[in-house]
Amino acid sequence: MAGRLLGKRAIVTGAASGFGRGIAAAFVAEGARVVIADRNAAAGAAAARDLGDAAHAIACDVADAASVAALGQQALAWLGGLDLLVNNAGVAQRPTPLAELDEATFDHIAAVNMKAIYLTARTCLPALAASPAAAILNIASTAGVSPRPGLVWYNASKAWVIGATRAMAIELAPARIRVNAINPVAGETPMLADFMGGDTPETRARFLASIPMGRFSTPADIAAAAVYLCSDEAALVTGVASTVAHSGGLVVGLYLLGTGLSTAGVVATATALYALTNLVKLVGYWRIGFLTAPVLVADLLVLPVLLAGAWLGYRAHRRLPRRAFELALIAIALAGAARLLLGS
Ligand SMILES: NC(=O)c1ccc[n+]([C@@H]2O[C@H](COP(=O)([O-])OP(=O)(O)OC[C@H]3O[C@@H](n4cnc5c(N)ncnc54)[C@H](O)[C@@H]3O)[C@@H](O)[C@H]2O)c1
Repeated sequence: MAGRLLGKRAIVTGAASGFGRGIAAAFVAEGARVVIADRNAAAGAAAARDLGDAAHAIACDVADAASVAALGQQALAWLGGLDLLVNNAGVAQRPTPLAELDEATFDHIAAVNMKAIYLTARTCLPALAASPAAAILNIASTAGVSPRPGLVWYNASKAWVIGATRAMAIELAPARIRVNAINPVAGETPMLADFMGGDTPETRARFLASIPMGRFSTPADIAAAAVYLCSDEAALVTGVASTVAHSGGLVVGLYLLGTGLSTAGVVATATALYALTNLVKLVGYWRIGFLTAPVLVADLLVLPVLLAGAWLGYRAHRRLPRRAFELALIAIALAGAARLLLGS
């Protein structure tokens, strides 16, 4: 299905590489015209050349106010207006104990991953406000919700992006500017080696073991989500931080692995928790009048399978400490109760 972004005018930051390049390519394929804004001028120009007439490269350091202001002027001159702003440019942190990261690196992470979103908003909001269907998309990370040790300041910067996304969405809703985020799980881009502390079969295996779907995300995965969130199909979607790659089980899995349970124990417990949260979700849907027949049937069909899997895994693992299992169930019940109280 092509043409989902027909006639849209977009800026994608950090689009010379990785996810940003994938997003720019998908936007062009769906009919948008795209400004590739990257501090790597040569790579940005090469990416624009590959994408043809619908793409245009502008060299820009998104952490620098004057550079972002210049980007705004040049992009508007080329695009003739602005409908979509994708804040994708970001920098990683190599695994470092939190107190040992040097101040210059901290400041750089804060400037590129956080301050840039303020700078591009300041520059682009007037043009976005004039668009009939404006959207901002921030590329955050699963690191913002499921932090990994050794990456504290990167994790925190992405949690900030998720918070900023929600706050921007609320404030900009009356102006009909939608603001969403994508939380990619670890992805196949040049940045991956930094997170892993080097790209070796061992570091890859360690990271993959923590991704429930068993593979890294790709620029195509993130681009598919980006196209949807920036298209008119998502006309009423705002304030959402969509996780790409089903990494929700990651938190529970990592926690339980840390307790020294066997794989069977972890799988059994995580599956049982998933089944329980599904039940809580159904009650929540019912309370807000959202429980349609297809949702109910789909969820009820999957529940017995999940519970049977959890029970079998539990039986298979005789040494599973009962206490850890029970504590985890109590924790999830409390979380479920909080979710019900909040009506979500
Ligand atoms: N790769 C992953 O595992 C992963 C996971 C979750 C989130 N993310 C996020 O996805 C986004 C894209 O990362 P990627 O993996 O494609 O990385 P990448 O290194 O392949 O691409 C990042 C791009 O941003 C550009 N850039 C960096 N600093 C900039 C600046 N100051 N001004 C302008 N451009 C700048 C770089 O030149 C590069 O082209 C980042 O925000 C990153 O934090 C990545």
